[in-house]
Amino acid sequence: MQIHTTIDSLRRARAHAGRLAFVPTMGNLHEGHIALMRQAGEHADAVIASIFVNRLQFGPSEDFDTYPRTFAADCEMLEAAGVEHLFAPDEAVMYPTRQTYHVEPDPAQATALEGAHRAGHFRGVATVVLKLLNIVQPNVALFGKKDYQQLMVLRNMVAQMALPVDIVAGETVRAEDGLALSSRNRYLSATERTEAVRLSRCLNHIRDAVRGGDHDFDALERAAMAELATHHWQPDYVAVRRQCDLQAPGDPKDALVVLAAARLGTTRLIDNLEI
Ligand code: PAF
Repeated sequence: MQIHTTIDSLRRARAHAGRLAFVPTMGNLHEGHIALMRQAGEHADAVIASIFVNRLQFGPSEDFDTYPRTFAADCEMLEAAGVEHLFAPDEAVMYPTRQTYHVEPDPAQATALEGAHRAGHFRGVATVVLKLLNIVQPNVALFGKKDYQQLMVLRNMVAQMALPVDIVAGETVRAEDGLALSSRNRYLSATERTEAVRLSRCLNHIRDAVRGGDHDFDALERAAMAELATHHWQPDYVAVRRQCDLQAPGDPKDALVVLAAARLGTTRLIDNLEI
């Protein structure tokens, strides 16, 4: 695997890479990322991953400083997955001057759900992803469905800005008990890790209920929030939404998704299930 720390080095390699699939990450890789790398290989001649912990998408009281940085282990996993190129810039490469131009996603889509609890998060994500796409110039870029709202915001950015890249979604990878894999799972204590599965269980319960004909979404959401709270979680939201734009369901034919975010101890977990 070639590791590029500068834009020049990456661009020289890009010129000879043929059809290129790109998987941007913030490192601390797990099997969910590796599944995306393998999926990326099906779309291109070569796969490029990036590792960059993007300060712009963290709020002032969030975990930017403590976000796990595990570069050597990440490189081993990428090598083993057959990834050809890694772009691993530092802040001076990505933000040589203070970033004063930003992508402002549609507030209707970026200030609900995650956006309501993480002000400016999607602006930071969209800005760095636009910049990464401009640097890497891939034919296809892959994002996991675990960050469902991020995927929607980025799809819309690419469509509305007519960026010459196809966006492909990867399925969420789960631990055996159902917990969605996430870099933040490593913050959980052993007891919290056992409890953490409750989040996906609540989502499964709502999915089964809706599939079984229960369309009282408010009641289902409230019951799940109450169950989480009873077990000492601090839920931010449990919400049944339309898949297409994450707005409240209207037409019974809408394809739906249930999304949730909740804090267990000091760790904030998110998850979702398409219904
Ligand atoms: O999903 C992530 O890891 C990040 O939000 C991304 C897309 C790499 C942008 O920093």
